[in-house]
Amino acid sequence: MAPEEEMDDIRNIVILTGAGISAESGLATFRGPDGLWEGHRVEDVCTPEALARNAALVHRFYDERRARLDEVKPNAAHEALAALDAAWPGELLIVTQNVDDLHERAGAKRLVHMHGELRSALCAACGKAVPWTPALPPGSACDGCGRPALRPDIVFFGEMPYRMNLIDDALRRSDLFVSVGTSGAVYPAAGFVQTARHVGARTLELNLEPSAGSFYFEESRIGAASILVPELVRELLG
Ligand code: APR
Repeated sequence: MAPEEEMDDIRNIVILTGAGISAESGLATFRGPDGLWEGHRVEDVCTPEALARNAALVHRFYDERRARLDEVKPNAAHEALAALDAAWPGELLIVTQNVDDLHERAGAKRLVHMHGELRSALCAACGKAVPWTPALPPGSACDGCGRPALRPDIVFFGEMPYRMNLIDDALRRSDLFVSVGTSGAVYPAAGFVQTARHVGARTLELNLEPSAGSFYFEESRIGAASILVPELVRELLG
């Protein structure tokens, strides 16, 4: 990050997080060794066609990941972002690609899940989303419309991410865009850095290794999120 005085002109911050921020909590990433996409084909568990073809497999994949949430807890990176959220006087938005609940459990409030949430079920018939914790058998009934149409509230490949207007507005007002723990493999999240650059925001990447989008960042810091994120928060809060 640029010298101290440049930190003073930061007002509005957008922070994008990916699976790497939850890795040190014990949750698998997607594309690393033992990644989730090593054990499953995206086409089999994360597309609308997969849901239509084999709902039991898709529901089981997310049931297993949801159950795992009870075995893990937020790490220092989630805690640091929650502290920044609580203390930052300007605008701040944490945009997570993750479907786990670790940001909320750390206390983050200004947060959006652009790819959905494991602890939510979505009615494919009426569009209602409801908090959900137990297993979600295919054919579970929606308590809104009554139809047996509840599905995991996960944005599948080929579906529109959530809250894109809110995210785009925040990016266009940002002075600082930070990306934490993402490979930069999936759009539109992978393009956020370009929107930030376009409006003159400073751009910083924190990741275990250079991502596919490192080229677009003004600065890349290589290392573990649990170290780099608290360090950045200390810089920002002074
Ligand atoms: N600290 C920082 N970065 C880490 C750590 C760590 N402890 N561990 C792993 N990483 C990095 C990896 O180097 C990798 O670049 O986190 C990144 C994780 O990349 P992916 O597994 O591709 O996950 P993500 O970028 O979140 O995937 C984006 O793809 O499959 C879809 O919808 C899914 O939201 C997901 C999206």
